Amino acid sequence: MLQNISKILLTEEQIQTRVKELAAEPSKEYAGKDPVFVGVLKGVVVFYADFVKNFTEPCQMDFMWISSYAGTTSGEMIVRKDVSVDLKGRHVVILEDIFDTGSSLQYTYHHLLSKEPASLKICTLLDKPERRKAGITLQADYVGFTVPNEFVVGYGLDYNEHYRNLPY
Ligand code: IMP
Ligand code: MG
Repeated sequence: MLQNISKILLTEEQIQTRVKELAAEPSKEYAGKDPVFVGVLKGVVVFYADFVKNFTEPCQMDFMWISSYAGTTSGEMIVRKDVSVDLKGRHVVILEDIFDTGSSLQYTYHHLLSKEPASLKICTLLDKPERRKAGITLQADYVGFTVPNEFVVGYGLDYNEHYRNLPY
């Protein structure tokens, strides 16, 4: 374990086991539907790769990158990189690293909804419900783990762009 990590919340083995389970249900639900998995960069990349390897049906992969307007605290967001697949009439699943205050997921959800997909669902590795901002009614359809109100790093999640490569 690294020096700055106070404890291991989820081991590599726990994560790998859960991600396999998490991909099993959509593998049934989306069979024959050729879904598009939209990953929200960058935190999702490690989870995304493991998830799609465990998804047993044909699918497509795409990514978007959003961020807050630089220099503001308004929480307003912009699309830095949009999806490249045409989502109109497609079955779309958003993949996220963590559902925290919900601001970014809410923004992403409405942005993708405007592209008129046939369906739109949310799959998040982690859910931190205690942090949810008032007024966010969005819910994740698939959740890997519900976590306590603590700052977590590793398995894609960062602190100052570090620790993303930890397998736990
Ligand atoms: P939101 O607050 O739900 O909009 O989350 C925005 C983004 O902040 C997430 O997608 C993560 O990339 C990041 N984030 C939220 N909580 C944590 C955490 O505990 N550790 C690392 N990154 C986090
Ligand atoms: Mg993220």
